[in-house]
Amino acid sequence: MCGIVGYFGQKDPKEVIVGGLKRLEYRGYDSAGVAILDGPMGQQHIKVVRAQGKLAELSKKLEHEKFTGRLGIGHTRWATHGVPSERNAHPHTVEGVSLVHNGIIENYQDIKRTLAASGATFTSDTDSELVAHLLSRKVKETGDLLKAVDGILPLLRGAYAIVAMWEKQPDVLVAFKNGPPLVIGLGEKEVIVASDVQAIISHTNKVVYIDDHEIAFVKGADLKVFTAGGNSIKKEIQTITWSADQVEKAGFKHFMHKEIHEQPRAVANACAPHIDLAAKVVRLHDVGLTDAQFKKIERIFIIACGTSYYAGVAGKYVIEKIAQVPVETDIASEFRYRSPVIPPNTLVVTISQSGETADTLAALRLAKKMGALTLSICNVRASSIDREADGRIYMNSGPEIGVASTKAFVSTLAVLNLFSVYLGSVRGQLAKNEETNIVENMLALPAQMEAVLSYDKFFGEAAMKLKDYRGVLFMGRGVSYPIALEGALKLKELAYMHAEGYAAGEMKHGPLALIDDRMLILMVCPSDEHYEKSLSNLEEARARGGKIMSIGTGDDAALKAVSDDYLSLPVANWMVNPILAALPVQLLAYHVADAMGNDVDQPRNLAKSVTVE
Ligand code: F6R
Repeated sequence: MCGIVGYFGQKDPKEVIVGGLKRLEYRGYDSAGVAILDGPMGQQHIKVVRAQGKLAELSKKLEHEKFTGRLGIGHTRWATHGVPSERNAHPHTVEGVSLVHNGIIENYQDIKRTLAASGATFTSDTDSELVAHLLSRKVKETGDLLKAVDGILPLLRGAYAIVAMWEKQPDVLVAFKNGPPLVIGLGEKEVIVASDVQAIISHTNKVVYIDDHEIAFVKGADLKVFTAGGNSIKKEIQTITWSADQVEKAGFKHFMHKEIHEQPRAVANACAPHIDLAAKVVRLHDVGLTDAQFKKIERIFIIACGTSYYAGVAGKYVIEKIAQVPVETDIASEFRYRSPVIPPNTLVVTISQSGETADTLAALRLAKKMGALTLSICNVRASSIDREADGRIYMNSGPEIGVASTKAFVSTLAVLNLFSVYLGSVRGQLAKNEETNIVENMLALPAQMEAVLSYDKFFGEAAMKLKDYRGVLFMGRGVSYPIALEGALKLKELAYMHAEGYAAGEMKHGPLALIDDRMLILMVCPSDEHYEKSLSNLEEARARGGKIMSIGTGDDAALKAVSDDYLSLPVANWMVNPILAALPVQLLAYHVADAMGNDVDQPRNLAKSVTVE
């Protein structure tokens, strides 16, 4: 859950590493550091600069630092072991060996005890420093960093991606992993090792993804990959198709705001590979699963975390209605630790923007072990979840940098709509005219989303009212319910306000007691089959003095009459309503958080890619 970068090449390593860390700051931002070779040729040593706080603090410290070497590593941290502080910041260096680590060494207490018993002293509270100790001891025996890494691997348990350097081998980086991602960019006479291609893309679009239990050996500008034990592996060089511009703010104050406005394009890109425009039908080519497999499915589990989980809850409503297949949704951290029953002919769908979320990955592995067919919906191609599932559909949202997920969420909703249509159609549950109707609605959706986003300023004004309340109760019924869940999550994580998402029918079973003039009810109430019931819920809340903001369809006089504030969406098919309704809930949270002066792109205590439990 941290960002790591390593560099060897002709450019200034400080610039490349700090530039890369800037792009990875979404992964963690409580402290940062670099270790870069310095000194005259032949006597180079590692110089380490670290700082508590965001990367800007490290940049200040580095402003006047110069390094003569061509090799270095860097890290931006999301603390697991040891509080965020300079002494716990990476890189950790022990007798000329320096490393950066993303993940958790689970047997760190055993390792620490053994090291302490043989005289080691520690300068941090981290598990990562212990690996630096192990390596520095091993490198003395072997005289070679690659051999040293190979030698210590059997001692490590847990999830890790590590990049190490040793000052006696001034053109060597060794990187190895089990769990968190590692990708290596191959440029002109340079190699960049990173947690994510975003740190690489401005230097080269040629990359190699490192798999678990592989060791990447960078010597000069050459890359070799080995198994533990030293067998050489041939790796495919992949070409990244998106450009460096896509990871800039393009005039917006925050990445999140830019990403909210990119959503019409994100949805269009998510749908494009799967819609046959001439026939107006959905075709799931190239997903890695066959029609025969889709026809055999008797039950679907959708498993994910956070926002991706809420997208999955929306998926349950559409798949059950359109394809008539029973769907269970499950939070990955629950699924993996209960004793799930997976009947024969079950499809397990895992949803993950990053494709690296530890719990979702573990759930996928468990499902495979239990014999389920698996399908992943990921944004990051070649991520662990993407690679390990039997089939895959991409969100195609482009890079999402704001820590709070927005465009990946709506792209997933779009993908799940198309998936339900395809499933319904191959299983004979959906008539051709119904399919055409849904496809037409999906094709019209990006323009409708643009129309909603053009009211951004108006949503911003409404958002200012949220500050007056002690909490917000988001509610919805049917497929609007997951939007209520998502609206509450966005408000919590960005504005640090208490918010709850509720199925509106549950209001009488408890939450009604919360209602007074300091608790806002935000009802997602588009005109669909649940409309009348949601309206009655609002009447009940109003009768008890509740304050109401509602999101409805068109110029809805009845809804306006029971609401203190009313936000309008265009008339749309029930399946696309949640995608439209996601926009105002995102913008409300964004604007109120920005007005409160919160760091919208990097909310406190969070990180984007949760590669640890
Ligand atoms: C909230 C948010 C998180 C993620 C969750 C899963 O805005 O972004 O709740 O949705 O951490 O992440 P992925 O989708 O990468 O598995």
